[in-house]
Amino acid sequence: MSALKETNWIWVDGTFKPWSEAKVHILTHALHYGTGVFEGIRAYASNGKMYIFRLKEHIDRLFRSAKIYFMDIPYAVEELCSVVVELIKINEIREDCYIRPIVFRGYGYIGLNPLNNPIHIAIAVFPFGKYLSTKGVRCCVSSWRRIPGYSLPPQAKACGNYINSVLAKIEALRAGYDEAILLDDKGYVSEGSGENIFIVKDEKLYTPPVYSDILEGITRASVIDIASNLGYTVYERPIARVELYTCDEAFFTGTAAEVTPILEVDGRRIGDGSEGPITRSIRRVFEEIVRGRLPGYESWLTEVSI
Ligand SMILES: Cc1ncc(COP(=O)(O)O)c(C=O)c1O
Repeated sequence: MSALKETNWIWVDGTFKPWSEAKVHILTHALHYGTGVFEGIRAYASNGKMYIFRLKEHIDRLFRSAKIYFMDIPYAVEELCSVVVELIKINEIREDCYIRPIVFRGYGYIGLNPLNNPIHIAIAVFPFGKYLSTKGVRCCVSSWRRIPGYSLPPQAKACGNYINSVLAKIEALRAGYDEAILLDDKGYVSEGSGENIFIVKDEKLYTPPVYSDILEGITRASVIDIASNLGYTVYERPIARVELYTCDEAFFTGTAAEVTPILEVDGRRIGDGSEGPITRSIRRVFEEIVRGRLPGYESWLTEVSI
């Protein structure tokens, strides 16, 4: 994981502010109670252009997350998409970058009723490389369970949800692993701390369904399409923990993680302990698509001339 690389401008509530001036008050509601929703989006540098991956789908999910928490975003989806394009241009970004929109409850009232606190919206972009090792990761099943939907909806990408991921991530790192896999409250596989998961068995793919308390990942949906287009069948069904130990291949998907092979779970090697062939073929297609090199997937990309 790398330290933040500063850029010049961050968009806050309708204006572009210098990076160092994009600040909040210490009594911001979201800082205390997690009352914000956000997105993580990637843009890729290729052919002298930037390609934003599935921008509209991410902004649509931001609106869905906000709706769950009664936060009205005073902009249209198209307006926020245009702001993202503009931010890449005015920050003169020419390398792979991350885009972080956030909508949150601000300063004004203390207490658990957030509804009188103002809603703010900000979007930052900054250079960003790999999040997890491209060679693959060693994982453990976390002792922390994924938050069940009856306590906090995991389908909302809400700030407060991530304290669950943070516990699992710290536990995994302190035990010498790269990443955690969380089970749902029934003991089925849910997802990684910030990634969806797929396993491969007898050349078929399996991934946990929405009711296993996952965030419905946009990379997950993209990989389901890619795998189907490559001729593989993908099943969305509950996955037992033990299937992680006996599958042929496993991998994570996510905006940060992209397609990352899982090499080991709880000390059991997956396959021969290196990236499997189906994971490799999906990863390679994904990497071609995001850089605008594969015809047929143009609708997933927003091209920015730089
Ligand atoms: C908990 C969680 N699950 C899954 C994902 C993958 O979602 P996406 O592919 O939309 O980035 C993310 C990342 O956003 C996440 O934070």
